[in-house]
Amino acid sequence: MYRTHTCNDLRLSDVGKTVTLAGWVAASRDLGGLTFIDLRDRYGITQLVFDMDDDPELCSRARRLGREYVVQATGIVRERINKNPSRDTGDIEIQVTDFSVLSPAKTPPFTIVDDTDGGDELRMKYRYLDLRRPCIQRNLLFRSRLSLEVRKYLAEQGFAEIETPFLIKSTPEGARDFVVPSRMNRGQFYALPQSPQTFKQILMVAGFDRYFQIVRCFRDEDLRADRQPEFTQIDCEMAFVHQEDILQTFEGLVRHLFHVMLDIDLGPFPRMSYDEAMRRYGSDKPDLRFGMEFCDLTAHARGKGFSVFDQAESVLAICAPGCASYSRKQIDELTEWVRRPQIGAKGLVYVRYEADESVKSSVDKFYSPADLKGWLQVCRAHPGDLLLILAGETEKTRKQLSELRLEMGSRLGLRPPHQFKPLWVLDFPLLEWDEEAGRFFAVHHPFTSPKAADIPKMDSVDPAVLKSIRADAYDLVINGVEIGGGSIRIHDRELQSRNFQLLGLTREEAEAQFGFLLSAFEFGAPPHGGIAFGFDRLCAVMNGANSIRDFIAFPKNNQGRDVMIDAPDFLKPQQLEELGIATVDKQG
Ligand code: AMO
Repeated sequence: MYRTHTCNDLRLSDVGKTVTLAGWVAASRDLGGLTFIDLRDRYGITQLVFDMDDDPELCSRARRLGREYVVQATGIVRERINKNPSRDTGDIEIQVTDFSVLSPAKTPPFTIVDDTDGGDELRMKYRYLDLRRPCIQRNLLFRSRLSLEVRKYLAEQGFAEIETPFLIKSTPEGARDFVVPSRMNRGQFYALPQSPQTFKQILMVAGFDRYFQIVRCFRDEDLRADRQPEFTQIDCEMAFVHQEDILQTFEGLVRHLFHVMLDIDLGPFPRMSYDEAMRRYGSDKPDLRFGMEFCDLTAHARGKGFSVFDQAESVLAICAPGCASYSRKQIDELTEWVRRPQIGAKGLVYVRYEADESVKSSVDKFYSPADLKGWLQVCRAHPGDLLLILAGETEKTRKQLSELRLEMGSRLGLRPPHQFKPLWVLDFPLLEWDEEAGRFFAVHHPFTSPKAADIPKMDSVDPAVLKSIRADAYDLVINGVEIGGGSIRIHDRELQSRNFQLLGLTREEAEAQFGFLLSAFEFGAPPHGGIAFGFDRLCAVMNGANSIRDFIAFPKNNQGRDVMIDAPDFLKPQQLEELGIATVDKQG
């Protein structure tokens, strides 16, 4: 037996017992007569003590143990004189009578503690060491428990977990596909699924009624803190449902997960239409932990000779509470912030509502104090507040002001990571126009159903009418993060064909890409719909974290590389030959 207990098992009640522990040397302290070693395993840390007076030979061997050596130690549990209340085992220590080194270790390139000195790249290269850090272990163990809870809950609700293939052909979800060459079909490629979308719909046609899968998805897109090229979805589909059934079922799932994992009751989720979210927050995933809603000053700001506002389609403001005291320097810094290419605003106008109720602004030349007071009223500002105003094309201005709102929310500490504000965003548009491609794209995906009342609009040739078609599509947002998205699907072959047409696919192209789905719909397709949650994102949000990387055992870096195994990599010429792919020049 390697061990009788883990490094988190022993308490005062165990004093006097002879025990054997095994784990990694997390730290050692040599105090001359006494040597202390913190032994760490997945469960915790226990202090080992070696006494020079008891066994000088054993004690000198212990002094030579380096960090991260794997050690097995036997000894007697005794009460500590200096207790450590921050540790579960902090009341006891093991007076070691014998130990052996199970495996020596090189000095690790960074310290294996929560607050480590290792940079991102170094930690990813030595991911096995990074994964030893207790905070990352906690994250991955959280993830493991969360997936078990998801399975338990959905199984109880009658969902069947069914696997779908990874080697498929392209599913159009808006990102690029990762592709895999086929050796047996020279020149042809599989695509890795961006999601199991078409398969889960086929499973509904096949009569499975309630499907789910915790499944890896692959998308070749630009990476960010909340995006990985391979990520995991809780993918779900149900037959014979309306949108309301889906919202209820999955609100139930998410509430359950918060309840069992965090002991938090989220209460009923508020709902908001896409249009309302865009109008009030300039975003389809508003962070509702704080207010600072948009105020529309367009009508009030025009016609006073300030050409920037006169020419703007929209003049929009947020009211930053208590920020009238911002110095010139702070405002200049904010102006630079909105001007950065990532935000792209041309400038920032401010109105200070001073504590003595006087008003100062960067546009005093054009607007009288009464004008500005009018704005403050529209924005329901209080003395001490600061209006921050952006102007321009409506869509762009909303986006920019939404970024500024989030930034101000963060600066003012209004986004506490462990407070949770869920929101259903409903009624997304069906189509969006892509200027560059000169055609419509599906906002969600091509299988999303338009709202029944808007189906007649699909026959219009007027782009404005087409843009106004609403879909039975919904997103679940928590704290400004898109956690999940789904829709009611089209289950009628003709309507699906019409939708493909609007997306610029000819009958032949639609047949070639999705013939299997269209023919499935000819053999009795039930009305159906579903949703998929970003599992990595859910883990991160539930833990108040921004980056999903710390919840994925082996994530990729921002260049899509796994720096531990050094992938992607070149293939040998013979492999390329076998796959029927021209040799790629290493230099090129
Ligand atoms: P969608 O594309 O909205 O819908 O994806 C569902 C959820 O997956 C998460 N997600 C990601 N997480 C990490 N890295 C990524 N690159 C990434 N991309 C998406 C998000 C998102 O809300 N088939 C449809 C679902 C459906 O209609 O049922 C789909 O995939 O949290």
